[in-house]
Amino acid sequence: MSKIKPEYVCQSCGARFPKWTGRCGHCGEWDTLVEKVLETKKTWVASENHPQSLGAITVHESEERWVTQVHEFDRVVGGGIIRGSVGLLGGSPGVGKSTLILQLLARLAKNRLKVLYVSGEESANQIKHRADRLLIQQDKLLVLIASNLEQILDCLRADQPDFVVIDSIQTLYTDQLTASPGTVSQVRESAGVLMKHAKQTNTGVMLIGHVTKEGDIAGPRTLEHMVDYVLYLEGEKKEQQRILRSVKNRFGTVNEVGLFKMTAKGLVEISKPNSLFIDRFLSTHPGTAVFSAREGSRTIFLEIQVLVGDTQQNNPARTAMGMDRNRLQLIIAVLEKHLNMNFSHNDIYVNLAGGFRVFEPAIDLALMAALLSSHLNVALPEKSVFFGEISLTGEFRSVSGMEERLYESQRCGFKRVFLPAQSLKPSGMSNLTIEVNPVRDIHELREVLA
Ligand code: TYD
Ligand code: MG
Repeated sequence: MSKIKPEYVCQSCGARFPKWTGRCGHCGEWDTLVEKVLETKKTWVASENHPQSLGAITVHESEERWVTQVHEFDRVVGGGIIRGSVGLLGGSPGVGKSTLILQLLARLAKNRLKVLYVSGEESANQIKHRADRLLIQQDKLLVLIASNLEQILDCLRADQPDFVVIDSIQTLYTDQLTASPGTVSQVRESAGVLMKHAKQTNTGVMLIGHVTKEGDIAGPRTLEHMVDYVLYLEGEKKEQQRILRSVKNRFGTVNEVGLFKMTAKGLVEISKPNSLFIDRFLSTHPGTAVFSAREGSRTIFLEIQVLVGDTQQNNPARTAMGMDRNRLQLIIAVLEKHLNMNFSHNDIYVNLAGGFRVFEPAIDLALMAALLSSHLNVALPEKSVFFGEISLTGEFRSVSGMEERLYESQRCGFKRVFLPAQSLKPSGMSNLTIEVNPVRDIHELREVLA
């Protein structure tokens, strides 16, 4: 197809330009110019063009779900992939997106679904090597090495797969645009065309996208709004654990997570998460605390590591990996105010071990305990678990899932738990053998380290 002359449209004011610039010459907004496809084809049929009553609409094949039987995956997408839905799977390079997808496709193919894996990133040889390594059944799995959208669409029309995965959306380009692959306009246009195809033909589509360091799907954050579901695969390359998180789902809940570990034979489901992590918590050093996090219907234990060091800098470091930096700032402010401490000459680094991310405020008590422990250079009592939210007045507040966190700590062999005093029911709880230490406020927490 011959290239057509591009035109750029400001997404803010709608002004049009023949050339791309960083700033709109009309309204002055930055970074709002997007390439526009000039060719206008009539894409609708007159007979479809009148409104109908909602009651007259018959739902056919409603909510047919494809179950992959990878339970950790199925649960995250709400019981299976909905036929004809379009999803996005994000994750940093090397985290295991292609591995996960190949394993899922093999399962779906085994269940007699016609699946197609389109790769613009790797050669057929590389994919074959990976499939060999994963010991998956390969004869029903179709593979296409391509990155041209028109070529892929031709293939989809000819082969009519039930489910197609594009690895990755950043490698795609359409002849309709002159911009290079990976740019916002290419990614958006390609995704838009694929989505239209998906909805017209009831084909399931999953787009894989690399995320940048900031955690956005590089460039095309707008895709998140277009698709039916968005999943992220998290974890650190050098660590085994992987967590699959749903951040958007038009067909189900978004607070479930799936847990996997990366092995020599690919991703393996973890159905009893804590048996894998428990060994790590046996030794305690100053600056570490164990937090029991709630992820969907699961309780997971995570190690928080804090380093408080002296600094000569005017602007001491406040670094938080795996959690909200504002949360850290708040905790420092509360400690300074209510315990009369001064961290203005201290760099503070926080890391959540294993590449996990936690955004629930229940982490406050554990984070504070680790921070105080590092600052005072005193280790916390061994085999302890911490959870609770701090208020600005320095008191700890109860959090959701209290009983689950408590009983799971006991089941996993922890000896004691520190939790907000106000969360304890007067009637008490039955069958508790773990030592329960209610903490009212940060003064009481300080005493734990005395
Ligand atoms: P990959 O799926 O290629 O990551 P992504 O598509 O997200 O970029 O996985 C990359 C890493 O996983 C790579 O460093 C090798 C490792 N790996 C295993 O440890 N075991 C395996 O069975 C496979 C296939 C990969
Ligand atoms: Mg890949």
